Amino acid sequence: MDGFETRAIHDGQPPDAASGAVVTPITLSSTFVHEEVGKHAGYEYSRSGNPTRRAYEECLASLEGALDGFAFASGMAAEDAVLRMLAPGQRVVIPDDAYGGTFRLVSKVLAPAGIDWTVADLTDLDALERDWPDGAALVWVETPTNPALTIVDIVGLSALAHERGARVVVDNTFATPFLQRPLELGADIVVHSATKYLGGHSDVVGGFVGTSDPEIAERVGFLQNAVGAVPSPFDCYLVLRGLKTLAVRMERHCENASAIVTMLVRHPAVSRVLYPALADHPGHAVARRQMRDFGGMVSFLAAGGEDAALEIVARTRLFTLAESLGGVESLIEHPARMTHASAVDSPLAVDPALVRLSVGIETTDDLVADLRHALDATS
Ligand SMILES: Cc1ncc(COP(=O)(O)O)c(C=O)c1O
Repeated sequence: MDGFETRAIHDGQPPDAASGAVVTPITLSSTFVHEEVGKHAGYEYSRSGNPTRRAYEECLASLEGALDGFAFASGMAAEDAVLRMLAPGQRVVIPDDAYGGTFRLVSKVLAPAGIDWTVADLTDLDALERDWPDGAALVWVETPTNPALTIVDIVGLSALAHERGARVVVDNTFATPFLQRPLELGADIVVHSATKYLGGHSDVVGGFVGTSDPEIAERVGFLQNAVGAVPSPFDCYLVLRGLKTLAVRMERHCENASAIVTMLVRHPAVSRVLYPALADHPGHAVARRQMRDFGGMVSFLAAGGEDAALEIVARTRLFTLAESLGGVESLIEHPARMTHASAVDSPLAVDPALVRLSVGIETTDDLVADLRHALDATS
């Protein structure tokens, strides 16, 4: 099999048969000709299937080591398709620091539809084994998590869940397939917010589901068409274009994050740095095993509490105050009041002193200086 970077640039994207175009065309047509009834070139109607979308799905499925993949209009639409596989009375287990939108989808949309849910600490596999939630059919994993960067042992958790007859989904948004491939580690399904590193330029919203289980693939493919939360051909083109440079971008994100962490751990305005490369991070050993590198996301606690955290996020110049992550530009945010505001007063509430960084690929020294300047002003 070709290497990751080669597959990112070529898989699913042969030169266009009709024109010879080297870059996959954006096929805007909503409908496709039937030569005669029941005979067509593989596409009928763009919600059901579109050539640009198919190229993107094949490429990303290949990068994840999945048999098949399905693109959605957003990460939440992808999550919704996976969770729709549950029947009323079945249970989903979600991590105790899940992305706020996942928590909202489960607690406010699925629960009223009869899906049971449990919040659990997925880092403690012994406790999970002891108190295995009744009727658990699906375990939802994020690793690293958003925003605490907690690491879950995908191999160990998959073995436990499979013993109990449950399936495992991994939200691989933070790591991307360049750093971690959940299906190779035993998970059944991988989901993405393609809005983040896969697109990589903060100019597209998208989601993806990948699996090597033919039964799951058939159901997700059915739901993609039946529910219809599909991305536009232009959005598919943007993510496909992003995938081509994913490897080099991720290398630089990791390099810059590492330099930022080196500064943060020594700064008096910071009481704790959450980054899996640090030896004192509880998930360090597992992260070393299951990830190629530690990623571009860094969180830290402001020593001065919430007021200091708010001051820091207001003072940076290059780190732009904004939600989202994974783009080439560096972003800073206050999860308790921004991305995770929907989890306030819940078991998933975030420490208000927490600041989250999405470290971009700008010049390393500029990023370190920008953040140091904001921290100096608060210490
Ligand atoms: C880890 C994670 N999963 C899923 C989502 C949802 O994706 P989207 O915003 O593309 O719907 C996000 C969004 O921030 C996320 O951070």
